[in-house]
Amino acid sequence: MAGLFDPLGIRDVKFSNRVFVSPMCQYSSRDGYANDWHFVHLGSRAVGGAGLVMTEATAVLPEGRISPQDLGIWADEHIETLGRIVRFIHEQGSIAGMQLAHAGRKASTRRPWEEPSGKVPESEGGWKKVVAPSAIPFTDTYPMPQALTADGIQEVIAAFAAAARRACQAGFRVLEIHAAHGYLIHEFLSPLSNKREDDYGGSFENRTRLCRDVVREVRSAWPKELPLFVRISATDWVDGGWNIDESVKLTAELKELGVDLIDCSSGGNVPHAKIPVGSGYQTAFAQKIRREAEIMTGAVGMITSPVQAEHIIRTEQADAVIVAREFLRDPYWPLRAGRELDQPIAWPVQYLRAAPKGAQPRVPVDLKSFASCFEEQHGVPEE
Ligand code: FNR
Repeated sequence: MAGLFDPLGIRDVKFSNRVFVSPMCQYSSRDGYANDWHFVHLGSRAVGGAGLVMTEATAVLPEGRISPQDLGIWADEHIETLGRIVRFIHEQGSIAGMQLAHAGRKASTRRPWEEPSGKVPESEGGWKKVVAPSAIPFTDTYPMPQALTADGIQEVIAAFAAAARRACQAGFRVLEIHAAHGYLIHEFLSPLSNKREDDYGGSFENRTRLCRDVVREVRSAWPKELPLFVRISATDWVDGGWNIDESVKLTAELKELGVDLIDCSSGGNVPHAKIPVGSGYQTAFAQKIRREAEIMTGAVGMITSPVQAEHIIRTEQADAVIVAREFLRDPYWPLRAGRELDQPIAWPVQYLRAAPKGAQPRVPVDLKSFASCFEEQHGVPEE
């Protein structure tokens, strides 16, 4: 039975432990570029000892940003500054992952700390056209979306695949497709936001088609040696909405398409959902999907203490714990958890004098084993 500090292998990638940094928007980019803030923010969590450091939701198209300040990967020019961050994360022995996203009807909105909340006017960098499965806004302070055309859907799918290729060039070793929290793919999954009458709406098969199409194209653009995750909202928490049984059915299908791990979140698609937020409140979804869809899962949501995280892994409720806000409170959370649980975790060599007796220094991720997939996929010669 594995513990929190046991390594986890998925495809050719070995995570040194099972504490993963959850994607967290920083709303701090200009034109989608990563900058010093992202370097320090993500780099600190790698120094802190996370097995995986995942970027925030990174937009595959400019109109797929939540706010004008979101991180993006819709252009080749975005690769360079991301690459510097990736190299630092790997030097610390963590694995660098990127969450790919399209915000759908929740796009073109203000950063959470700005007033008034809701949509950003064009004069302040908002965009003319916000898209969704159907012309239904999230709330009346959000933009009125246009229903995506058949061609528009194909453009979105192609944008996810192109973004996956760029993420590979930047050196990321894990990709996560954001299909949760009321953003575009989730909007298609849920009958509350998808009222289409074509092949992408109506039945379970049709509502889940965009998710499957995106996964299929991303999987074929992404090296077979590298893991692919999908984040879902396991339930809308509303009668008549997307639910856990549909999540089990979908994730079993995603496994067949080459998805390796389901990151099990919930909610976000309708404003009035009553969510029983509390300690570990979404972990049961990770457990059920792991058992019934027979796929690896990550548990996320109010996982804050080392003992709680260790319990989730030891009792096989999930294969990894995915921590968000607690990592903002303490970027060195895994180092602290190692001390509290008396489990071995490598420390940055520069900090060894503060480490528990016997602690080992960090070993950078061995990237050589991936050289073949890079040559195969991109014709990049080995240096
Ligand atoms: C988030 N969350 C989030 N989720 C996601 O899938 N992509 C994202 O970019 C973001 N952005 C984001 C920013 C900030 C500041 C917070 C606090 C949260 C949700 C996050 O990943 C996580 O699922 C929830 O916060 C629940 O986990 P915790 O915070 O209880 O550990």
